[in-house]
Parts: sequence; C-alpha cells; structure tokens
Amino acid sequence: MEKRVILVTGAGGGIGAAMCAEIANAETALVMCDHADGAPLQEAADAARAKSADVAVALGDLVDPETPARLVAEAINRFGRLDGVVSNAGIAGPGWLDQVTLDDWEQVFAVNLRACWLLARASFEHLQMSNGAFIATASVSGMAPQHGMGLYNLTKSGVIMLGQTLAQEWGQFGIRVNTISPGFIRSPLTEATYADPEKHAARAALVPYGRIGTPADIAKGVHWLLSEDADYVTGHNLVIDGGFSGTVNRQIGAVPRTST
Ligand SMILES: NC(=O)c1ccc[n+]([C@@H]2O[C@H](COP(=O)([O-])OP(=O)(O)OC[C@H]3O[C@@H](n4cnc5c(N)ncnc54)[C@H](O)[C@@H]3O)[C@@H](O)[C@H]2O)c1
Repeated sequence: MEKRVILVTGAGGGIGAAMCAEIANAETALVMCDHADGAPLQEAADAARAKSADVAVALGDLVDPETPARLVAEAINRFGRLDGVVSNAGIAGPGWLDQVTLDDWEQVFAVNLRACWLLARASFEHLQMSNGAFIATASVSGMAPQHGMGLYNLTKSGVIMLGQTLAQEWGQFGIRVNTISPGFIRSPLTEATYADPEKHAARAALVPYGRIGTPADIAKGVHWLLSEDADYVTGHNLVIDGGFSGTVNRQIGAVPRTST
C-alpha cells in the first residue's frame, strides 16, 4: 500500500517536531521543512524514522515567496503524492503597533500568513487528487488580541479566516481545511517565559485545567484532524488551550464553592 505523505513546516520547532513524532508510523512519509538544518530538525527527523516513517528533510526560508511551492515540489518529486499539509511555522515578531516598522510587518506577515496561503495554493491540485487535508497552526491570539503582540495577533486571526475561507472553497474538491489554535504551550518559542518559575506559575493559574500545555497536546489534535476519524470536520478552528480562551467572565469574580 502507498504511504500517506504529510508535509509539515516548522518541523524543527517545539510543536512541529511533536506533530511529526505523533503522526510518524510505518504507513506515513513525512516531508519535514524548516529554514535551517540544525540539531533540532535532525533530532526530530531521527525520532520520526525511529517510528518507521519515511522522512525527507526540505529546507527553505518562508520569507521567500518561492519557498512554499518549492517545498511542495520537493515532496512530489520525492514521494509522488501529498495527503496532508501542516502549515505550522510561525514567529512572534515585535509587538506594539505604534512602533513596528514596515519591515517588521512584511516579515511577520510573510512567515505567519502569506506562506500559509502560498503553501495552500501550491498543494491544492495534489490534495485534490488525494482527498487530502490542509491544517494551519493559528493561535488563541488570533481569537482575542494578546497584549503587546500586535503583528502576531493580526496574522493569526488571518490564519483562522484563511482556513475557514479555504474550507468553503475546497469542500467541493474533497479537501478538508482546519486550523488549530494552541493556548499557552512551552516550546523554544516561549521558553524564555516558562523558564521563569514565577511567570510559569502566573500563566498556569490563568488556565482552568491548571497547567501549561505541551507540544504533544497540540500534536494529538493535528493527528486527529489528519485522520479519517475527522472525515466530516472542515472549516473548524480546534482550540487546545486547557480552557483558557473561555475565561473572560472570570474577571467578574467567582461565586464561592460550598462543596468540593
Ligand atoms: N508555543 C506557543 O505557546 C504557541 C501558542 C500558539 C501558537 N503557536 C504557534 O505554533 C507554531 C509553532 O510554534 P512553536 O511554539 O513550535 O515555535 P518554535 O519557535 O519552537 O518553532 C517554530 C519553527 O518555525 C520555523 N521558522 C521560523 N521562521 C521560519 C522561516 N522564515 N522559514 C521557515 N521556517 C521558519 C523555526 O525554525 C522553528 O523550527 C507557530 O505557528 C506558533 O505561532 C505557538
């Protein structure tokens, strides 16, 4: 039987590496993309191979608008088909909107949003042939603005809308499109925050489920969205945040519990 072929960007990062580890198996070929061929990407590739997946590493800077189509072409050249694409690479970028420069805007939008659209556009005909799935990593910051993260908020909200729009456009072609919105996840992107025990505890206290998330928490959602079990799921933004994004009414204050 032909292996299903899944392309993942940001595969050397915390969440991308966990996604690859979660979906890797003997029936899967992974195209693991990142812009630098460093130890994290190689370790992630080795971990996927250890789970019997075929692995191809594809490098490219997503700031370059040519990169997404080239990554898709590399996947097709190597494995001949494409069953799933996970547009996961992302950067935080500078925040305050009265201070960011045009270059900041171009860079954050290029990586977080434009590359996601270009990847989708380049993979369309292949996903149509496989009745495949496209998934993009958004964020709870795309659902409600995170303070001091202006460009990030704008791009992630765009990713959610891109996913919903593509789901409408591509449903007739048998392609499912979903986004996944992580909450507070400890990864290299956020390590500076969570390495500080006070900040870690302060953020964990905001989460109803009581803990900071792990890359594996997100990877399980992607695994499901790629699977046949999610066959009727499209246009959905899967929020994985321990309940954090539903907490706005907590600001009113809690009614004391009389029993446990
Ligand atoms: N960590 C969190 O708390 C959190 C929360 C919500 C959403 N997210 C999103 O999850 C995704 C993965 O984040 P992460 O926490 O694993 O971060 P990370 O920094 O560990 O990984 C991001 C990966 O993207 C790659 N990348 C960055 N710029 C690139 C470029 N120009 N070209 C190619 N690759 C590039 C990096 O090399 C890295 O491997 C991102 O889209 C991020 O916005 C993360």
